[in-house]
Amino acid sequence: MDKNIKDLYINFFVSKGHKQIPSSSVVPENDPTCLFNTAGMQPLVPYLLGAKHPLGTRLCDFQKCFRLTDLDEVGDSYHHTFFEMLGNWSLGDYFKKEAIAWSFEFLTKVLNLPLERLAFTVFAGNEYVPADEESAKLWQAQGVSRERIAFLPAEDNWWPSIEQFGPCGSDTEMFYWVDNNTPAPKVFDPSDKRWMEIWNNVFMQFNHLESGEFVPLAQKNVDTGMGVERTTAVLAGLDDNYLTPIWQPIIKEIERLSQKEYCQHKKAMRIIADHMRAVVMIASDDAGIKPSNTDQGYILRRLIRRVIRFAKQIGIDTNSPFEEGIIDIIVEQFKNYYPEVLKNEHVVKTVVREEKNKFNKTLENGLKEFDKIIAGFARKEEFMRKTDPNFTVERIITGKSAFNLYETYGFPIEMTEEIAKERGIQVDASNFKQLFKEHQEKSKQGSEQKFKGGLSDSSEENARLHTATHLMQAGLQKYISADIRQKGSNITPERLRFDFNCDHKLTPEEIKKVEDFVNEAISQAIPVVVEEMSVEQAKASGALGVFDNRYGEKVTVYTIGTLSKEICGGPHAKNTKDLHHFKIIKEEASSAGIRRIKAILD
Ligand code: ALA
Repeated sequence: MDKNIKDLYINFFVSKGHKQIPSSSVVPENDPTCLFNTAGMQPLVPYLLGAKHPLGTRLCDFQKCFRLTDLDEVGDSYHHTFFEMLGNWSLGDYFKKEAIAWSFEFLTKVLNLPLERLAFTVFAGNEYVPADEESAKLWQAQGVSRERIAFLPAEDNWWPSIEQFGPCGSDTEMFYWVDNNTPAPKVFDPSDKRWMEIWNNVFMQFNHLESGEFVPLAQKNVDTGMGVERTTAVLAGLDDNYLTPIWQPIIKEIERLSQKEYCQHKKAMRIIADHMRAVVMIASDDAGIKPSNTDQGYILRRLIRRVIRFAKQIGIDTNSPFEEGIIDIIVEQFKNYYPEVLKNEHVVKTVVREEKNKFNKTLENGLKEFDKIIAGFARKEEFMRKTDPNFTVERIITGKSAFNLYETYGFPIEMTEEIAKERGIQVDASNFKQLFKEHQEKSKQGSEQKFKGGLSDSSEENARLHTATHLMQAGLQKYISADIRQKGSNITPERLRFDFNCDHKLTPEEIKKVEDFVNEAISQAIPVVVEEMSVEQAKASGALGVFDNRYGEKVTVYTIGTLSKEICGGPHAKNTKDLHHFKIIKEEASSAGIRRIKAILD
């Protein structure tokens, strides 16, 4: 079924003149606000803002996505950390009429969903945009009754949200009646949970500026998103995603390993299944993420540690290589869609095994420590009640204890909070964070943690830092090692951050050489040349392909004189002289074998 819906979707939109683009890396290439891609449109932001996409104006794909704000909700029947999003885009090509007609055709003719079980929401209007009567009429023209169309405000029908900056617009959402025992009511009540959202068409025609203004984009775009896991469940008539063929082989393996049944241990088994899939997709990605205490690596660590805790809870021997069979199943499911999953299977297994071994050593003792803390509350209460019979102890784990659990036993604070909650006690997380910060400042490690979604920025600063990143990579290859490659990049208006493979700490001399190389290029005022070509031509021309599977057959190549040639989505400065002056402000370890540089232009 999983295979089916992805193939059906892509085939359908290809038949409507769309070009399929491959899924991008899980890590946004150029987005300071976001650890992982949260929607199919994210890698396409430059094109929604007007840059020309090499494959044209109609695109479709399935994209690896993460929604980490839902991490604590995983364990119910439909929240997932990792999920696949199907999408089709019009980049200034078709608009509402075709988008709605094709959505309707796909739902009713390809997926064969009965009209009686479908309902739709459209935007009710605000001070910038009138009510979307046009979309309502277009749905009606397809045979949808007016009672099945609800007009909702910006909180529901504006994407990504009315507060977020970047490209945005009103949307129309499609709902399916999931209750098999009751016929769908004639009048659509969007607050009835039996109406499940399955697809979203965003009419992206504004850029929300930080000044608060909504300025019309140069082009009117369509951005759509359909979750594979949820829609697969809907199609199978199931109200639990984990009962679909996507999840069942994994759940069955967890049942076999634990000798327990899913119906009695749903929460733990769902968490293990969900997190293992997320772990496979993060660790197999070419971004080269390894468990660590910051950013994406910290998420990977938390996911693996959570798997181990819940596996133990349902009686799986976590000292055995239990994870390998689960990984094999996941690799088998994804290998034909994401080649990196098969290619990096051994990397995934090593990452999980090593992190597991590390955590296994301390988990048991950490849980004992937890029990001791709780026993301490009871002891104190008993003692105090000798003199004051009404005395009650505040059951709060201090920041210091939580920090001890973190430092000595490797318990991420979120895990401490979760276990505490299970046992009815609280954690002084803000004091923990304070202690954590002090500790980090002492050990001079960055601790930026960005959990929320967001869109990238195409400002001038961003373009300049992006170009500086290319030059710096060329410098690193020239002076440090020819096989250095980008393993991650993140740009804020103030600085660039660049992760790359390297087996040693750079010496001050090496750093100086790279800085001088970039500054020399700046002083030469070299124009940055943009060209479109096929992947083969790009490779033949010696262009570096950092994410070389991401743009499909045609790619954009940025050339800076004889110094740098890279496949890239931009944006870029027009001339190196616009960069003024380049300076590396930090060089540190990011994870095993990966170094991290932060640099500025001043
Ligand atoms: N970008 C839209 C979403 O994620 C389609 O829902």
